[in-house]
Amino acid sequence: MCGIVGYIGKRDSVPLIVEGLRRLEYRGYDSAGVAVLAGDRVFIAKKAGKVADLQAMLDTGPVSGTLGIGHTRWATHGEPTDVNAHPHTDCNGTIVVIHNGVIENFRALKTTLMRDGHTFTSETDTEVVAHLIEEIRKEVSDLGEAVRLALLQLEGTYGLVVMSAENPEMFVAARKGSPLVIGYGEGENIVASDASAIVEHTRTVTYLEDGQMAIVRRDGVSIRTLDDAEIPKAVEHISFDVEQIEKGGFDHFMLKEISEQPETIRNAMRGRLLVERGEVVLGGLQPVRDKLFDAQRIILIGCGTSWHAGLVGEYMLEQIAKIPTEVEYASEFRYRNPLLGPRDVVFLISQSGETADTLAALREAKKRGATVLGIVNVVGSTIARESEAGVYIHAGPEIGVASTKAFTSQLTVLSLITLLLARGRGMAAQDAVVLTRELDAIPAKVKSILENAARIREIAREFKDADHFLYLGRGANFPVALEGALKLKEISYIHAEGYPAAEMKHGPIALIDERMPVVFIAPKDAIYDKVVSNIQEVKARKGRIIAIANEDDQDIESMAEFVIRVPRTYGFFGPILNVVPLQLLSYFIAVARGTNVDQPRNLAKSVTVE
Ligand code: M6R
Repeated sequence: MCGIVGYIGKRDSVPLIVEGLRRLEYRGYDSAGVAVLAGDRVFIAKKAGKVADLQAMLDTGPVSGTLGIGHTRWATHGEPTDVNAHPHTDCNGTIVVIHNGVIENFRALKTTLMRDGHTFTSETDTEVVAHLIEEIRKEVSDLGEAVRLALLQLEGTYGLVVMSAENPEMFVAARKGSPLVIGYGEGENIVASDASAIVEHTRTVTYLEDGQMAIVRRDGVSIRTLDDAEIPKAVEHISFDVEQIEKGGFDHFMLKEISEQPETIRNAMRGRLLVERGEVVLGGLQPVRDKLFDAQRIILIGCGTSWHAGLVGEYMLEQIAKIPTEVEYASEFRYRNPLLGPRDVVFLISQSGETADTLAALREAKKRGATVLGIVNVVGSTIARESEAGVYIHAGPEIGVASTKAFTSQLTVLSLITLLLARGRGMAAQDAVVLTRELDAIPAKVKSILENAARIREIAREFKDADHFLYLGRGANFPVALEGALKLKEISYIHAEGYPAAEMKHGPIALIDERMPVVFIAPKDAIYDKVVSNIQEVKARKGRIIAIANEDDQDIESMAEFVIRVPRTYGFFGPILNVVPLQLLSYFIAVARGTNVDQPRNLAKSVTVE
């Protein structure tokens, strides 16, 4: 959600923090701010808008200092205004706080603090933390101890950083539910809400765990629990390069990430797919192999695009591996009192590995005795660490808020898991080889779809002013319809709905007239003829048909106004191909409408609050 950067060292902190915020802007972008210790006072600049607006503000009144903190906000409490932007301070501007998360008991704390004479300036929950620390410091002068005592009174979630004008030698960072990573340098240390703000300075890091706080100084970092016990640092290495978080010549991260898919899909299967043996090796699942093969049911849980990947996974697992599978929205699962037992295997699907609802579902499933496994992109993320075992999708950093390459990599990993289970449950090697060969061919087929981007751009121009879109598919392509509709609404703000094609006549058909674009996902699979019937129903009502169809489908031209060609593949791998033109269609429509593709309004890349 929000982005956090804190720096203490020998360099000027301001450019380093602003650059870090720019890299974190995909996490939240409704306002931004910095606080810098300049002499014996804290200078604060903050503003509603983008990091570029903050930069412009700083350009007019330069300030420098070797201790500073910065924040990009995604509003939860209080509108995105200058006043509500972080950092927030105590009454006299000495204690300064930036925060990601939600302080659930802030109203009660605020009432008490106001009664004690504290004056609040913002509508945020965060400001209460600064005043609470100010109050505690009347009795406890040590900053670290005052922060610790304040944290013990907070209910809710936080990744936060606190600095004080009275403590030029340190700042404090703490985590409960919102990620923070500490990067170690020579005579300098950095804290950020994710590693992309750190990687160009150091690759040696510690991911704070929930319930931990760090006292960060120039010459070292000590990590403590909220019970005040010092604990050893678990040092890890960032696995990606700076180039991976740059646009690399593309206009938008989204286009770069769509274009990377032949490579990212290959990375998801690299070393895992033994093509000519018809086998799959997933080292990450080795520790739970027995539980996996003994599972009576698989439950796939995620949100948004990751949930759509789960829906495709359900088709694969039930049809190929023949194992009962259910798919759940994480946000619903956690409050539904789900019936789970020790022979249930739950896969949590998450690009970021930090989505609050998915994490809560993981903890709920674990509490109920199920085996909990992760299908995650971000290495070292909370879901990855709290899962019993899992499979990384290895898509590399995904910066565009609309998820693209993570989806196809999630589908690739779900295909691998399906094949692994299918073999374990008796699928013959010669049958499996047909599938492993086909999966191995997918990256090249995605590449050929991308080569057709110009045609998709033309179609996008034709429909850029549409007010509504319908996406229809059947079987494993129904979730692709949902994903196509989600991509379009996220970045172009056009209202779009995905439906199982046959369901159309139970309601959505009422919407169809000569102004309604209808995207059909219509590969030549076992239910092609059924989809064709649905196409005819739309055509009879003058809907404008765009069909995603196979290269050898001659009949489709007479039914659809526009056809986007995709190569043939085995049915259950089809979604990996069919979603790619839908990603491009959304992208080109959004560009034609002039929206902010990588940072669409109201959204944040990873939703770390409920
Ligand atoms: O990081 P996660 O995969 O857990 O995120 C889940 C959703 O928030 C995410 O897929 C969201 O729907 C994207 N904006 C979709 O493009």
